[in-house]
Amino acid sequence: MPTPVPYYITTPIYYVNDRPHIGHCYTTLVADCAARFQRLAGRDVFFLTGTDEHAEKVVDSAKAHDMTPLQWADRNAAAFKDAFKLFNCSNNDFVRTTEPRHKEKVEAYVRKLQSTGDIYLGDYEGWYDPSQEEYVTETTARESNFKSPVTGRDLVKRTEKNYFFRLSKYQDALKKYIESNEGFLRPEARRNEVLGRLRTPEGLQDIPVSRAVDASDPRSAWGILMPNDPSHRIYVWIDALFNYLSVVDTNDRRKYWPANVHAIGKDILWFHAVIWPCLLMALGEQLPGCVYAHSYWIREGRKMSKSLGNFLDLETLKAYAEWAPNKEGIPLGIDALRWYLLTQGPLGATDADFAHNKFVEVYNADLANGIGNAASRVSNMIEKYFEGKCPQGNPAESSPMHSSAGSLLSHSGDAFQSLSIDGAYARVIAFTREIDTYITETSPFKLAKDLANMPRVGAILYNCAEAIRIAAVLLSPAMPTKMADLLTRLGQESPRPDGSFSKPLSELCTWGGLKPGTPITKGPALFPRAEADAAPPSAA
Ligand code: MSP
Repeated sequence: MPTPVPYYITTPIYYVNDRPHIGHCYTTLVADCAARFQRLAGRDVFFLTGTDEHAEKVVDSAKAHDMTPLQWADRNAAAFKDAFKLFNCSNNDFVRTTEPRHKEKVEAYVRKLQSTGDIYLGDYEGWYDPSQEEYVTETTARESNFKSPVTGRDLVKRTEKNYFFRLSKYQDALKKYIESNEGFLRPEARRNEVLGRLRTPEGLQDIPVSRAVDASDPRSAWGILMPNDPSHRIYVWIDALFNYLSVVDTNDRRKYWPANVHAIGKDILWFHAVIWPCLLMALGEQLPGCVYAHSYWIREGRKMSKSLGNFLDLETLKAYAEWAPNKEGIPLGIDALRWYLLTQGPLGATDADFAHNKFVEVYNADLANGIGNAASRVSNMIEKYFEGKCPQGNPAESSPMHSSAGSLLSHSGDAFQSLSIDGAYARVIAFTREIDTYITETSPFKLAKDLANMPRVGAILYNCAEAIRIAAVLLSPAMPTKMADLLTRLGQESPRPDGSFSKPLSELCTWGGLKPGTPITKGPALFPRAEADAAPPSAA
């Protein structure tokens, strides 16, 4: 067996001050689906998510809740872990920036950059956004009327003695790198945005990477102190970016660096597309394969915001998973939600809408009437005409699915490589629709009225069951629980909890894998149809 090729995918590490919401769950879900697909494809996957805990806000909120900052962080980090568990995410690790394993590495990286002169002590004067804990450029400050471009609160003029990172030194190298590596920044619109900013005459300025510790302000000491100078604390963003490296900077995990994909939202593009690669160049590390910045979820056509109070929070998402809009009272399950988010989400450069009616529509079209209906029709007929045993196939009995199956695998591989999860699944759904059309056109239920036709009926149903098996394998990274159920009904190996299978993907997707005689069971409806007039879930 050849050694599997490593694949490393990360998500942003989330601020522990917020409660998890759709935005956080979405990025982690995208990474989960990609990680599961790569495990299915035989790669040695490392999937990392976690929490960013050294923000000043943590100290304030902890105080308001009568807790220490660490107690507050513990509580909220646990909420993120629970959220990702609810979504059945298969992350291999969960990093918290307050952990010693991370802090020690950050100190070592900063010490190295101090010794090479890439981090130096200087004076900084600028417009600071206290609500976001970041400086904004003079241009941004002026354009936003000296208000925070994110929260609208006042900016303040600050002067401090600071340590700086020599970002300016890496501008040319970074520009060249982005220009010559087309896939490094995705999607294209985000790449153009960054290149546009890098090409302005203003260029890159050195950036402050520390904050002075003020003995009278407990917030200023919360974080990692500057090596060799405890009167400064490392700026939270620099501390946070290093997580991608610190977690795999160990003997057994070094093989995962450089990361293949940093999945992020468009709000934090600049840190990941510019500052992070320059820090890596300064450290002499290889750059990640791709920074993928998706767009935003909005809700029922409106931007989600704290002031509107319309964030899709975890309670609402949970209510969707538990929602049972059918006569049978069967909950839709987390896979229905995973499916909607993964296929209708804001991958690419446009925002996506979480609209209740659309959720129902997509569920019914793709799952209830799509793969669910095909699976139930085929297993029904196999039960009825062949005593629940997979009939004999016949190579002479052609089907459109057989011709599509080969290209389906290579298309999925390419699409996942560029994180086009929606693109990959659009093809798989088209494939499952072919099964329905094929059944209607060949009408095995009519043919079965004449016993002499049974070999042909068997061959037709074999083609259908085989197509469902292949679709279930490819759909398993998106809907691991439902597809494990479906594969078990087809008498097949189901994916392991991390999404991998014991057989290689090429073998799993080769036409003819289903052995005649295999017991095929019908079971209850996999995706019961959602009644259009069912009341929306109560938390929604
Ligand atoms: N802690 C920083 C990231 C440091 S990474 C080294 C941070 N955290 S955050 O908690 O604010 O999470 C930001 C991320 O949440 C975004 O990049 C995106 O992945 C996700 N989303 C937040 N709101 C979102 C939407 N409305 N829609 C989709 N995703 C969004 O920034």
